Amino acid sequence: MTDSTSNIGLIGLAVMGQNLALNIADHDYKISVYNRTFSKTESFLDKNGKNLPNLSGYENIESFVNSLQSPKKIIIMVQAGRPTDSVIESLVPLLQKGDVIIDGGNAKWTDTIEREKMLKEKNIFFVGSGVSGGEEGARFGPSLMPGGSQEAWNLIKPIWDSISAKVNPDNGKPLEGALPGKPIQGGVPCSAYIGNDGAGHYVKMVHNGIEYGDMQMICEAYHLMSSIVDLTPCEIGDIFNEWNKGELDSFLIEITGDILKQKDPRTDNPFVDIVMDTAGQKGTGKWTSVNALDMGVPAPTVSEAVFARCLSAIKDERTAASKILTGPIVKIKSDNKQVIVSAIRDALYCSKICSYAQGFQLMREAQKEYNWDLNFGEIAKIWRGGCIIRAAFLQKITEAYEKEPTLANLLLDNYFKECLSIYQPNWRKVISLAVESGIPVPTFSSALSYYDSYRSERLPQNLLQAQRDYFGAHTYERTDEERGKFFHLDWLHPNRPEVQV
Ligand code: ATR
Repeated sequence: MTDSTSNIGLIGLAVMGQNLALNIADHDYKISVYNRTFSKTESFLDKNGKNLPNLSGYENIESFVNSLQSPKKIIIMVQAGRPTDSVIESLVPLLQKGDVIIDGGNAKWTDTIEREKMLKEKNIFFVGSGVSGGEEGARFGPSLMPGGSQEAWNLIKPIWDSISAKVNPDNGKPLEGALPGKPIQGGVPCSAYIGNDGAGHYVKMVHNGIEYGDMQMICEAYHLMSSIVDLTPCEIGDIFNEWNKGELDSFLIEITGDILKQKDPRTDNPFVDIVMDTAGQKGTGKWTSVNALDMGVPAPTVSEAVFARCLSAIKDERTAASKILTGPIVKIKSDNKQVIVSAIRDALYCSKICSYAQGFQLMREAQKEYNWDLNFGEIAKIWRGGCIIRAAFLQKITEAYEKEPTLANLLLDNYFKECLSIYQPNWRKVISLAVESGIPVPTFSSALSYYDSYRSERLPQNLLQAQRDYFGAHTYERTDEERGKFFHLDWLHPNRPEVQV
């Protein structure tokens, strides 16, 4: 019989699981670990057990569960889908009323809703927690987005708050410099209760969708600078480093600067130039876009980012088409390089504002659909550190929702409204230049179309609705009648007089 002394347990010792376990151990919690393949547990303990006496590993799941204090808290860090279900199934007979299973993987929020419901019937708590920040984040402080019952959250809150990333309370900037055995002390935790059942995993999914948008927008800025402005990767890297000192200050801009300045160890040429231009994806961006379509929420910028990856992936087809289809010759602007670079910066910032506005609109709609009560200021707050989209910009979103928790759209906040007003001439100029030069800018241009549509009192869908009424008797509302009253015109069909709708 094992002593039940561990504060928490973790199942799944792949990259994320190992790093999260070390992070928890570094915060003086006793943690038990278990992995289906025991050799992984052994090598993990061989490597880390000496320095971390509060880490213990188990070969069978029963002794692992027995090693935990009650109420038992077990984090699952295995692949989403069937593997997660299979681990839950093996745990259930070993758990008792009030124990907590936490899924820290990238589960689909609808699966989390189902699992929470199923486990509630067995009196077991289930928390679906978004964990963002990759390997480094898991090890030294991720952004944590837990969803489930408030009671379950109360049980894990002290651990979640202590292992999460921290930001400076004065300016919201991430506190960095954690080392093995020396976690960050103090600061505001990037961890907050998100809402019932699947809310945490939903918000994590939207975070990933926003990340898709951010990455694609950065790529478009790079593409414009390398083609129209004819700068080298290293020069563009310097520009990103410069941008990182201002409003665009963020993890993704910072690493882009590093990447562009990196040399290929084999050829000594710029590293980005030897990387094949085909992007992979794991599916969270697609889930975000599908969900936006399902709910009828306009989130075109995330969708364009997903499609841009899809288009990049059909490399052979593109190569063949490049020999057949024509387009304009790119005119290199060699005189006013500085002016164009700064216009590209403005275009990137405006597009980013629109992309985030769409992400927050999506969450606003989802909370109605799934009966959550999301706190958008709090969500922006916990994204300020630890996660891939961490950025100074998130402090502005936090402030916007703190000022006005029921803000209809981020674009309407004074700060963002001003930015869009000041930078938009450059935003439009850059997109015109890209279009004239045949450089694809799907996220820049979809963000601008979103902005122009959102600020339009009248759009051309009057004609569209008339078309629907014409061919399908779908009815229409009149501008001179109150909303909600529907009319149908008996179309005369001048060219096909026999047709009667
Ligand atoms: P990463 O992407 O970080 O590599 P992952 O693929 O999401 O991680 O998860 C892999 C983990 O899930 C491994 O710990 C794996 O266990 P093994 O080392 O035994 O392969 C675990 N895993 C996958 N399927 C599982 C299952 N059906 N039951 C238990 N654990 C499973």
